[in-house]
Amino acid sequence: MHKKIVLTGDRPTGPLHLGHYVGSLKNRVILQETCQQFVMLADVQALTDNFHQPQKIRENILEVALDYLAVGIDSKKTTIFIQSLIRALPELTMYYLNFVTWNRLKHNPTVKQEIVQKNFGESVPAGFMIYPVSQTADITAFRADIVPVGDDQLPMIEQCNEIVRHFNRAYNTQVLVEAKAMVSRVPRLPGIDGKAKMSKSLGNAIYLSDPEDVIAKKVKGMYTDPNHLRVEDPGQVEGNPVFVYLDAFDPDQENLAEMKAHYQRGGLGDSVVKKRLNEVLQAELEPIRLRRQEFAKDPGAIMNLLLEGSDKASETADATLRDARKAMCLDYR
Ligand code: TRP
Repeated sequence: MHKKIVLTGDRPTGPLHLGHYVGSLKNRVILQETCQQFVMLADVQALTDNFHQPQKIRENILEVALDYLAVGIDSKKTTIFIQSLIRALPELTMYYLNFVTWNRLKHNPTVKQEIVQKNFGESVPAGFMIYPVSQTADITAFRADIVPVGDDQLPMIEQCNEIVRHFNRAYNTQVLVEAKAMVSRVPRLPGIDGKAKMSKSLGNAIYLSDPEDVIAKKVKGMYTDPNHLRVEDPGQVEGNPVFVYLDAFDPDQENLAEMKAHYQRGGLGDSVVKKRLNEVLQAELEPIRLRRQEFAKDPGAIMNLLLEGSDKASETADATLRDARKAMCLDYR
């Protein structure tokens, strides 16, 4: 039986945070044991909305690679690579563009939302509009079966599979493979400010690389139930970010259930709950931070590992490109 192939990645626009950790990083650490996994540093995609800041993307390649290694993505089991080094990807993107209408791109919910978020208005770059097609190249070049992503990425996988079906039908081939999204069971983490999503651009994230005192300070300042004014007041647990984080991270779920009941009854102060959350997060993040510091001592070695990964990834992508070109009658040599 063929080993399942996993392809996933992140835009290297900043270091990774707890939202990435529960949403996808933990899954990747598990998947690498049973699947052939490729993890991509999506620098080309990052440039579509950061083309004025190439230096920022360049610096964050290393930061994100360190985050990967620190959480336990193992370069011996997982191929970690840099998107722009895979020359087959832009070529595949070019061919796939014939299978998407402009209208379809304009109505992609993720792209639409990002256009608003990034204040592009009418000046949205064409490169940004077509990034779902370039993401289709990322996925199909590796003939990935599984794409572990956050739920915001579901329209990308749908778009990908549409292109796969169109391409295979048009050229009467089976070269491209449809992929399945794998969405984390853990609900997405809210920001420390109570906003629905933890995100770098909203400035409400706890980073895997945050030092101990920064984590403590962020937890102390976290948004909780705004109506829980005095300790005696009954408090709300649902949607309260402090409890959402505890749900995701506290290994002692029995004690957590008691804390929740006490909070709802009244008599349990926010500071006590936050103290527990701080303990739990420090315990989870300390080993990650230490491993990160270890890897960070030798940035040259990290870059070597990314270049080797990129060579390996290129071989796979080139093979797909060769087959795709053949199906398109472009096999001149
Ligand atoms: N769009 C993803 C993000 O912003 C990153 C990404 C690029 C990706 N190519 C991919 C994810 C292919 C999964 C598969 O987070």
